[in-house]
Amino acid sequence: MYSQTVKDHFTNPRNVGEIEHPDAVGTAKNEADGDQVQLHLSIRSHKIQDVRIKVMGCVAAIAATSCFSEMIRGKSINNAMTISKEKLVEALGGLPENKVRCSLTCIDALKNAFSE
Ligand code: FES
Repeated sequence: MYSQTVKDHFTNPRNVGEIEHPDAVGTAKNEADGDQVQLHLSIRSHKIQDVRIKVMGCVAAIAATSCFSEMIRGKSINNAMTISKEKLVEALGGLPENKVRCSLTCIDALKNAFSE
């Protein structure tokens, strides 16, 4: 039911942890079923130089946040903000329809990092 990419990110999530002195922190919670994501970000010259993640959620939420962290590292903040749910799901090799919502929480966390 899950792609190899999803299984890989779930079993070996990237960039887990915190940054000691982050330049920005974004959190988001899916009120529907309680999954939560926290992103710690280091920013240099408007670029995301480093990112660390913490996720409380299902296989899809963990895999999506891990994959998302790799996608946003090195990007400008503006470019990272344009990563859509569709792009993330594509990068994950697809998600079951009822798990697509789980991939949105990390995207919301990034947006919240720059709007809180
Ligand atoms: S995180 Fe709640 S079902 Fe995926």
